[in-house]
Amino acid sequence: MKLFVANWKMHKTRAEARAFAEELGRAIGDGIAGAELVVAPSYPLLDAARDSRGRWALGCQNVASETEGAYTGEVSAGMAADAGCTYAIVGHSERRRYFGEDGPVLAKKLARCREAGLVPIYCIGETTEERDAGLTATTLVRQLDALRSDEPSQPLVVAYEPVWAIGSGRSATPGDCGSALVHIAEILSARSHLRLLYGGSVTPENCRPLLAAPRTDGFLIGGASLSAQSFAAIARA
Ligand code: PGA
Repeated sequence: MKLFVANWKMHKTRAEARAFAEELGRAIGDGIAGAELVVAPSYPLLDAARDSRGRWALGCQNVASETEGAYTGEVSAGMAADAGCTYAIVGHSERRRYFGEDGPVLAKKLARCREAGLVPIYCIGETTEERDAGLTATTLVRQLDALRSDEPSQPLVVAYEPVWAIGSGRSATPGDCGSALVHIAEILSARSHLRLLYGGSVTPENCRPLLAAPRTDGFLIGGASLSAQSFAAIARA
C-alpha cells in the first residue's frame, strides 16, 4: 500500500473543504487500489473534509506538546483523535522554522500522539544551507533523535522533506530522494512498522519517477493536494 497525505496547511474554508471531499469522492470512486489516502486540513475543517465512506482518513497538521490544561490556542492530540484524526503531522519544517519547534518539543508531541493513538507523520529534512555545507546526513540523524524514546514496535511514518524543495517548484531528484530514504531506513532499521514518504513540490507530472525511488512508500503533498483532481492523479500514479 502506498500512502498519500494531503497537507492543506492554512488553506480552505469549510465550503471549499466540502467541495474538495465531493470532488475527491467522485475522482476515486470506490477507492484507488494499492493507495491509502489521508487528508490533513486545519482543525475547523476536519468535519467538512471527512469521507462518510471512509475512503480516506483524516490527519491533523500539529498537536500540542502537553496533554491538557491552560495552554491557550493549543489543540491536544486527544482532541484531534476525538475529532476523527488517525494521523498527525509532527515537526513539519514550517513548524520548526516559524514556531521554533525543536527536538525536545517534538519528542513530547510524538509521545502525546502515542497516548492518543494517533500515528505520527514525523517530518525531517535539511535546509539549503545544510545541504550546501554537506550536512544533509548529519541533519537527518539529528532530527531523527527526537524518536529516541518512541516505542519501535509502534507504526510510524517519516516524511523526508528537504526544506529547499517545499513549495519551491523544485522537487528533489529521485536519486536524492532515494538516497535520503535509504539512509533513514538504515537508521530506523529496528522499526517494525515504518513507512517513508517524500515531500516537496510533488505534482502529478513529477510523481512517477519519485515514487519509483528506493524505499519510497508515498508522498506528503502540499500545494498539489489543494486540488482534488491533482491529489487523486498523484495517488493514481
Ligand atoms: P509542497 O509542500 O508540496 O507544496 O512543496 C509539501 C509539504 O510542505 O508538506
